[in-house]
Amino acid sequence: MQTWIDEQTRSKAAALAPVVRALAAGGPAVQVRAEPDSDSRPADLQLDDSACATSEEAIAALQAAWPEINRPGTVRIGGIGRFVLDEVASAKKAGRLGGRVCLVTGAAQGFGEGIARELAQAGGVLVIADLNLPLAQSVARSLNEQFGPGTALAVGVDVGSETSVAEMVTETVLTFGGIDLLVSNAGVLRAGGLEDMTLDTFEFVTRINYTAFFLVTKYGSRPMKLQARFDPSYAADIVQINSKSGLEGSNRNFAYAGGKFGGIGLVQSFAKELVTDRVKVNAICPGNYYEGPLWSDPEKGLFVQYLSAGKVPGAQSVDDVYRFYIDKVPMRRGCSPLDVTRAILYCVEQAYETGQAIPVTGGQNMLK
Ligand SMILES: NC(=O)c1ccc[n+]([C@@H]2O[C@H](COP(=O)([O-])OP(=O)(O)OC[C@H]3O[C@@H](n4cnc5c(N)ncnc54)[C@H](O)[C@@H]3O)[C@@H](O)[C@H]2O)c1
Repeated sequence: MQTWIDEQTRSKAAALAPVVRALAAGGPAVQVRAEPDSDSRPADLQLDDSACATSEEAIAALQAAWPEINRPGTVRIGGIGRFVLDEVASAKKAGRLGGRVCLVTGAAQGFGEGIARELAQAGGVLVIADLNLPLAQSVARSLNEQFGPGTALAVGVDVGSETSVAEMVTETVLTFGGIDLLVSNAGVLRAGGLEDMTLDTFEFVTRINYTAFFLVTKYGSRPMKLQARFDPSYAADIVQINSKSGLEGSNRNFAYAGGKFGGIGLVQSFAKELVTDRVKVNAICPGNYYEGPLWSDPEKGLFVQYLSAGKVPGAQSVDDVYRFYIDKVPMRRGCSPLDVTRAILYCVEQAYETGQAIPVTGGQNMLK
């Protein structure tokens, strides 16, 4: 792998890639890969480094030169980098997502993994971003095998760390040229009543479920805003995977429910701020995914935890705990990643809605 001259040049290249993608004006079907300017191979469009000292100067030079060129294959900006434009495969172009770059946090397992698989099926190009990098790499590998090379990239991230989130966005943009759909899914659950909950645990849950949504939106919206500025037909989406616990309080689970309620306040506020940049922001509030590892892990899943803690009166087995929860759902089943992805696709395809929190709960939560 080639190395960048320095961090500043790399971040300049990341700031320019969405502009190159926007000027190419092919919508989500065009990707832009940025590489260090390490040799003098000719390019279809070459800009001299003297005209590109800052990102803004480089943007102005790009705009001025662009009308002369009809979607070049490679743009070289001297001293910064080479930008290689690629069309996504026709099978992706034909899908509902048409090659959109979709970044899903917490995509190594559970809802995130299932959502990433459904989005790839719908013609998306995926960034599998997770704290668990080996597991994220194995999900990305299997998507590349199933849907073709270049479908998925694995990125290690701690969504609670600002530098890590910034780096996740830079890596994504240098690889694909932008982010068209950001799914903020990574989340943690630590239940406990007032007498059990420690400040450390409360702050940990709040950091990952609430503060991290601010961080991923702050950095993830930057390439979206840039692309929208230079391509009038462009629109992007941010979707937070919230919870039914973001719509109704959860007994002895207030750290989780409080962060999720707060997430809806962020969704509504970000939606108002980003509407002028043509970035929609919505939340999906799923019911419980009983087949996923959070509930069904045989050692630390919630079913075994709730059974051993005696949380469900009279329950003798995991099946009894399962029945107790399923009885609360009018449609009498748990929520699946496909159910959630259908709501995400609604958000993407619906041009006239932002700032909403959409329940996907089989009728368990109904909006007032
Ligand atoms: N499972 C459910 O029943 C349910 C119901 C409603 C809402 N949700 C929400 O769905 C989302 C996913 O939940 P899940 O059940 O699939 O969880 P999960 O525990 O199965 O998976 C979460 C993933 O996030 C990753 N992760 C955790 N902390 C991270 C961090 N700091 N940075 C990056 N990645 C991190 C984990 O490594 C894991 O791969 C969460 O936001 C959760 O609140 C889940």
